[in-house]
Amino acid sequence: MKRGGTGLMPLIALDGQGPLYRQLYGWFQRAIVEGRLRPGQRVPSTRALAGELKISRIPVLTAYQQLHAEGYLESFTGAGTSVAASIPQDAFKPAAKAPRHAPRKIEARLSERLDAVLALPPDPQQPGAAFRVSLPALDQFPNDIWSSLLARHARHPATKDLAYGDPMGDMTFRETIADYLGTARAVRCDASQIMIVAGSQHGLQIAARALLNDGDAVWMEEPGYPGAHRAFAIAGARAVPVPVDADGLDVEAGLARAPRARAAYITPSHQYPMGMTLSATRRMQLLQWAARHDGWIIEDDYDSEYRFAGHPIAAVQGLSAEDRVIYAGTFSKVLFPALRVGYLVIPKSLIAGFCAARDAIDLFPATLFQRALADFIAQGHFARHIRRMRMLYMERRALLIAALREMTKLDIVSAEAGMHLVALLPRGADDWAISRRAAAAGLSAQPLSLCCLEKPKRPGLILGYGGTDARQIDAGMRRLSALL
Ligand SMILES: Cc1ncc(COP(=O)(O)O)c(C=O)c1O
Repeated sequence: MKRGGTGLMPLIALDGQGPLYRQLYGWFQRAIVEGRLRPGQRVPSTRALAGELKISRIPVLTAYQQLHAEGYLESFTGAGTSVAASIPQDAFKPAAKAPRHAPRKIEARLSERLDAVLALPPDPQQPGAAFRVSLPALDQFPNDIWSSLLARHARHPATKDLAYGDPMGDMTFRETIADYLGTARAVRCDASQIMIVAGSQHGLQIAARALLNDGDAVWMEEPGYPGAHRAFAIAGARAVPVPVDADGLDVEAGLARAPRARAAYITPSHQYPMGMTLSATRRMQLLQWAARHDGWIIEDDYDSEYRFAGHPIAAVQGLSAEDRVIYAGTFSKVLFPALRVGYLVIPKSLIAGFCAARDAIDLFPATLFQRALADFIAQGHFARHIRRMRMLYMERRALLIAALREMTKLDIVSAEAGMHLVALLPRGADDWAISRRAAAAGLSAQPLSLCCLEKPKRPGLILGYGGTDARQIDAGMRRLSALL
């Protein structure tokens, strides 16, 4: 192996901009590109480098992982780590006759908030593949009714509907939602508290912007919804993983880890992804924590319409005497995600603040879908569609469970609710590797580890059945069991 120069490591000079791992990654990348580190040249071990720089080993490990992933570094058992030998020598030196000018700076410096998002693993799911989570049965949506409602409102819009609107949304639509939530979800609110948003992800963003300062701690269910990890990371918050057990979020563990957290993000009716319901005791403990510590509870009620047995689970919002709950709901699961319509129920004391935050972010929601949706609900199509889908998802869930039992030995974790279940893998299995193999076989099998901020207790696969029909369930499970 050809080694360049003396083989000595040049002095590492960090630029002090951004997180340490990025500085280290940037230094190595530049040193390799500029030829100061030569192909095949040994680099120090992560332990030695951390010791030399007097920093923790974690940023060094993260930087090395990224450099490995991008092909700058390579490691061989017993031979340590070196610059990839395949990198061409002098590849980046200017040609002899090239004009001398300063190299174009192409490395963009990103915000630390974005760095925090990029440090989270991306969702490996394949669009359109069987078992994709969070996808309803799109082919069952009553498109003819929907398109005629849309056409009616698009054809003859009132002039005011073409102008700038209210940051909270259209009043008729908000009244319809307030009625629905009071009846179906035991949410205590009136239309003045409803803000129409572009899906619950957007709602979380508005809530985080309105309530949190940089570095504020937020309790996150562990495992929990990865979209929420990203929403709070981009808002500059510090996610504090709080384990869930059979009763949902372990409030005492939260109190031990970060009693002064500013907010708690929860999915109490049907915990994402494990499916349990937050018990009454935990609900009380959580409300008590919020009242005592001036904390806010962000309740994500993403798929509460689909409960197949027993009574619907009432929202935590309706229990909060102190008005400490921000409730987020969405039409993505009951209708279709591309609609991008959801809503927040905001405590009265926060309405003005949330309005200002919304105005600063995206002014106000688009009018057309609100008008069409208000009619869709008022004319009974919404309730009818939910009833049909509840039956369909109940059947699909039963089929998937039967197929899992017949074809695999995996332990199944599933509430009689929702559009997905979790199949637990044996301890020590690599759910990311299985998920990648499933993707290569045209299947979606979200790794449970994707939902974890810490090392998961047990690996697993999250399998969606809402948008996967009986034939796909059977064929998909055969493929999945074969590759397991
Ligand atoms: C728990 C949970 N919350 C929120 C969302 C996001 O929904 P929306 O499409 O309304 O942004 C999802 C989507 O999968 C989800 O699973």
